[in-house]
Amino acid sequence: MTRKADFLVIGGGLAGLTFAMHAAKTGKVIVLNKASDEDSASDKAQGGIATVMSEDDSFESHEHDTLRSGAGLCHEDVVKLCTSSGPNAIEELVRFGVEFSRNKDQNDPSYDLGKEGGHSKRRILHAGDFTGHEVMTTLVKAARAEPNIEVLDHQTAIDLIIQRDDAGNPLRCLGAYSMEQKSGAIETFCGRCTVLATGGAGKVYLYTSNPDIASGDGMAMAYRAGAEMANLEFVQFHPTCLYHPEAKSFLLSEALRGEGGVLRLANGEEFLHKYDERGSLATRDIVARAIDHELKKRGDDHVLLDMTALDPDFLVERFPNIHKRCMELGLDMRTQPLPVVPAAHYFCGGIRTDINGRSSLPGLYAIGESACTGFHGANRLASNSLLEALVFGKAAAQDSISWIEKAPALRGDPPDWDTGSAVDSDEMVVVSQNWDEIRRLMTNYVGIVRSDKRLDRALRRINMMLDEIQEYYWNFILTSDLVELRNISIVAQLVIHAARHRKESRGLHYTLDYPKLDDKNFKTDTVLKKGPDGSPEMIKTDLPYDWS
Ligand code: SIN
Repeated sequence: MTRKADFLVIGGGLAGLTFAMHAAKTGKVIVLNKASDEDSASDKAQGGIATVMSEDDSFESHEHDTLRSGAGLCHEDVVKLCTSSGPNAIEELVRFGVEFSRNKDQNDPSYDLGKEGGHSKRRILHAGDFTGHEVMTTLVKAARAEPNIEVLDHQTAIDLIIQRDDAGNPLRCLGAYSMEQKSGAIETFCGRCTVLATGGAGKVYLYTSNPDIASGDGMAMAYRAGAEMANLEFVQFHPTCLYHPEAKSFLLSEALRGEGGVLRLANGEEFLHKYDERGSLATRDIVARAIDHELKKRGDDHVLLDMTALDPDFLVERFPNIHKRCMELGLDMRTQPLPVVPAAHYFCGGIRTDINGRSSLPGLYAIGESACTGFHGANRLASNSLLEALVFGKAAAQDSISWIEKAPALRGDPPDWDTGSAVDSDEMVVVSQNWDEIRRLMTNYVGIVRSDKRLDRALRRINMMLDEIQEYYWNFILTSDLVELRNISIVAQLVIHAARHRKESRGLHYTLDYPKLDDKNFKTDTVLKKGPDGSPEMIKTDLPYDWS
């Protein structure tokens, strides 16, 4: 059966729902949500939303901090757009009912602005330490009440449907095939435009702050369909995930350091000032690399985040969620430093888009973490991701509203999904073995510190696994696990290719063989797409994308 909408949105996080709310003013929207409402990375976001809100701050300062963090690869027009649109985006959230924390002072009820690494001013709007949850519960409620939006939960999108010319070149995206996870039924969804808002791919690594659904589905689908991808070598590791066997990479927000928390070695020594004058509040690339270096040098398995110098009542009030979780695990941050390690947190690269959220495939938009808009460059500044999701959710909706008016009408329905001669798998161990192997391989060879040798090894192994997974994929009936495995293997392949191409160190990409910045040869995005032989090829094309 084919289900149709004006706007097909894949992903129910902040970017997807922001798009949906704006697009619903003019047409019918279907949102395919991979999990349920509380499982998105947006919902888990603790820190907040960076935007200029105080008299002593300025758009220029936010721009400057974003550009500095992005290490030469941010697109200045996009940085200007995102920073200057921030206050308006916040106002829209407040109109939906989002409540950000305010100062306690009765005479000054303005927003309580937090500080995080790389920001030269206090500019992080937050709701305690569960900002994402506050924003998402409000937005989900509004979206579910909107008659023009239909949200379908537990949907695993499988592949995009692309109309092609006689030579097989992609002409236009028509929609996607998606599997209802409980029944396994695969349906065809068509949109006059399709929006990928599927989030990141932290599951490509063994340790990640991301939710379980973060398997790079949108990125892999777009790549398979022929879309241009950019900057996949820039994977951000958050410096402070709780190191505890039961914590499952629980994030300790950067806001803790913003309020005065200090990173220390196991022996209590403060060490970040050896690496950067900003100490524990340097940007994440620098802090995560410094921790990695110290751990490897000393053979330690974690460093410490020390909050004990702060007022204990303030800590509990400002960070109730973190305090509660730590106490459940027997850790009291008021009296003892917390054990932490870096973990994969955010993909700065993804589906390459222009300033309107258009991908290189006509009819296909990408927003949120699945996209590479040019905002983050080689290293995302803290709390700039929710801001980008809001700004591009709206910008893409506005662009798509006018584009679908001019776009050629769909001619007939695309064919239904064909399972061919696939049979039920009798060896699911292949799936779990490959999942585990890819995540270990990426962690050990393509993590915070890379080298030519490690990347070559990683490439040889991923190529072998890709063949095996591809064969398995065609022979057996699809399950969500298999769809995700296929996607993480492709994202891993893209990260490895992009990292091998960049023979310098910049932002989040650090390699022992080329430890210096090389502006002459590499001050440019790494853009690749699927080549004629099926493997990634580097390309050079210009933005914006012309869909006429
Ligand atoms: C955090 O609270 O540290 C995460 C915020 C972000 O990823 O920007």
